[in-house]
Amino acid sequence: MTVNRPQPRPGVLTIAPYVPGKSSAPGVAKVFKLSSNETPLGPSADAIAAYRTAGERLEDYPDGSASALRDAIGATFGLDPDRIVCGAGSDDLLNLLARAFLRDGDEAIYTTHGFLVYPIAIMGTGAKAIAAPEKDFTANVDAILSAVTPKTKMVFLANPNNPTGTYVPFDEVKRLQKGLPGNVLLVLDAAYAEYVQRNDYESGIELVATTDNVVMTRTFSKIYGLASLRLGWMYGPAHVVDAVNRIRGPFNVNGPAIGAGIAAIRDTAHVDRARAHNARWLSWLMDEIGKLGFPVTPSAANFVLIHFPKTQGRTAQDADAFLTRRGLILRQVGVYKLPNALRMSVGTEEANRLVVQALKEFLGKPA
Ligand SMILES: Cc1ncc(COP(=O)(O)O)c(C=O)c1O
Repeated sequence: MTVNRPQPRPGVLTIAPYVPGKSSAPGVAKVFKLSSNETPLGPSADAIAAYRTAGERLEDYPDGSASALRDAIGATFGLDPDRIVCGAGSDDLLNLLARAFLRDGDEAIYTTHGFLVYPIAIMGTGAKAIAAPEKDFTANVDAILSAVTPKTKMVFLANPNNPTGTYVPFDEVKRLQKGLPGNVLLVLDAAYAEYVQRNDYESGIELVATTDNVVMTRTFSKIYGLASLRLGWMYGPAHVVDAVNRIRGPFNVNGPAIGAGIAAIRDTAHVDRARAHNARWLSWLMDEIGKLGFPVTPSAANFVLIHFPKTQGRTAQDADAFLTRRGLILRQVGVYKLPNALRMSVGTEEANRLVVQALKEFLGKPA
């Protein structure tokens, strides 16, 4: 019998809700949260000061078009501020893009271990989320192109990807764009771009500037350390920007976020420090954890994907429980079809050393 009550659009109730990383370890005094790819350095002191100043005027609506912030982003990256849209985190923009370009019956492609917000955003519009297989935990351009059908309207690619940390070189991203029909929007999610130190990487700016069907999203949640404020931005062709501006909330970015974002993006010394800290500890973690015998997927971002055996007592779940008891909180990634892995964000020197030490003990090796 059908119940007569409001029904969400088809597909909505098949969405598995997003589960964020754990943030506590019951009964443990000191906790190191390495489960959400936050920066161990925190935000710039200038950003905190700007946040406090903006906090004195909470009764005022913010500037709905975030003009000063778009100008600051434009100045930093050499972009036209009119082609930038800011959002309440890049999640907001990913959802707005899906809402603007997808409808019931359409298809949108992401990759098997791709960021989970994509299928949620896609299915929320009534469209079908198609997972293209990856190779070596890396998005594969041929597999994405083979998944394209006449119903395909969007492709979401995190570059680098979360939770794998792998990236697609610029030549391959260009080949992907060239192979897509002109009516398919390619979303390059560059949430971790600031961390990448590879000569063959490009975040997406060049493709947005030279084509009509590419948009790049960025975030202030990672290297800038403003995850709690919810601030992201996108750079796109004028027609995509126009569509998103028509459907976004008129005040989708709050005043303290605008103020802090401007200060954060201008404090390039802080960004450099965060990048240098990450470069040093990312390679240290990959080496040290690899030496213990756990394969680590090569990462270009601020986290590592650690693979565990299926042997009882040695699994990813066993390791997670062992680490959590010591206040070391990593991220289980079973929902990303990686049941035998844990993702660890690069932390402070203390946290990084503690994890490696704890993994040694987990293996029963002498301290
Ligand atoms: C690949 C990727 N894209 C986007 C986001 C969302 O970032 P934001 O905090 O800007 O919504 C994340 C956060 O984990 C991410 O890993």
